Amino acid sequence: MRMWNFFSSRGVFRTYLTNLVRDGLLPLLLIPGLLLGESTLRQAETASMTSANCKISEKSCRVWKHDAHHRINCRPGSIPAATIRPGVVWKDTDGNPINAHGGGVLHHQGVYYWYGMVLEGRTYVPACNASWGGTRVVANGVSCYRSVDLIHWQNLGIVLSAVPDQPDHDLHCDKVIERPKVIYHAKNRKFVMWMHVDSIDYKAAKSGVAIADSPAGPFQYLGSFRSNVGIWPTNVTDSDKKDRILARDFVGGQMARDMTLFVDDDGKAYQFYASEENTTMHVSLLSDDYLKPAGKFARVFVNRSMEAPAVFKRGGKYYLIASDCTGWKPNAARSAVADHPFGPWKELGNPCVGDASEITFDAQGTHIFRVPGKMDAFVFMADRWKQWNLADSRYVWLPMQFDAQGKPVIRWRDEWSPGLKNP
Ligand code: GAL
Repeated sequence: MRMWNFFSSRGVFRTYLTNLVRDGLLPLLLIPGLLLGESTLRQAETASMTSANCKISEKSCRVWKHDAHHRINCRPGSIPAATIRPGVVWKDTDGNPINAHGGGVLHHQGVYYWYGMVLEGRTYVPACNASWGGTRVVANGVSCYRSVDLIHWQNLGIVLSAVPDQPDHDLHCDKVIERPKVIYHAKNRKFVMWMHVDSIDYKAAKSGVAIADSPAGPFQYLGSFRSNVGIWPTNVTDSDKKDRILARDFVGGQMARDMTLFVDDDGKAYQFYASEENTTMHVSLLSDDYLKPAGKFARVFVNRSMEAPAVFKRGGKYYLIASDCTGWKPNAARSAVADHPFGPWKELGNPCVGDASEITFDAQGTHIFRVPGKMDAFVFMADRWKQWNLADSRYVWLPMQFDAQGKPVIRWRDEWSPGLKNP
């Protein structure tokens, strides 16, 4: 861990404020804030919703066209951060808040690409989701940022756009597009994105897939599906075959909500997803081109109701960190280890320690990635959801540590730096 540089927060914050005052930039911070408030209000007016049937007005949808120079926001900003500061608004190199939630990071040819869902506009709760507090904003697509030091992120714009003019389309603004993850298919030289796509009431529970020639997109949407139609899991038992939900979805395909992708050293890729009405996780091998399920999957963490999976490999073992199912509200993370992605998985308990560890530091995991070139350096990416103002949701990125038995440990840091050079 000595390769990771940790800084005390107070000194840096004082310098930051002093610089703002010195450079006369303080008013600039306030004006964009006012403008932001105004535009959010305008969107709230147009996003009129007929909640009874869970439909919203299409006027609230925004069309995004791919353009590497396009910016999600055009407001002038302030100085981007010099360190990673979990929970604090994280500005891109234009000074605008980074808008890439529930996402993941891909490292490709020395550059990190951060993909995530765009949370923008008014937060509302459709009547069909009111019982469980399922607030949402209109679906805005998937954004992408690039960085070489994991601190300074350049906005590359929307790489997978929402589709506002086709109400039946998976990417229509009334739908759900969550937890996008991108992996690279080296042989085909393709970037493949998987995401959770859903109906507004989360009943469709499908995986969507898109493909691109460049990490900066544009991604072409290929469609969605329920997984592993007509196939029993590799570890199925006779009683599983009578299981209410598993058997129900045998014919039409298994549900997939919160998800992540994991590529093993041998190039095999797996999708981990919350299935069976979120009660049980599935691990599904992907086809050789990474575009669909290969037809081989296992049930893991049966009836443990785990979601927000993040997977990594260390010392030949596979580790998973996931959450309980409590919607946007935080809960205690869980960790587990296995000798193969299909399991059996052994639970290792909550990896977080210290204050607020019982609520994952007020966050929910989304992805874990290794920092190449740094021995044993893994970053835990999590989201601090703001249930009633989703657009203000924050990021909690923390360095992972490991105890003597190899169990993952995550401690809070006010700020830290991965110590990568920014040439
Ligand atoms: C959480 C899930 C998020 C999102 C949210 C909706 O349980 O982890 O990805 O789906 O519910 O309320």
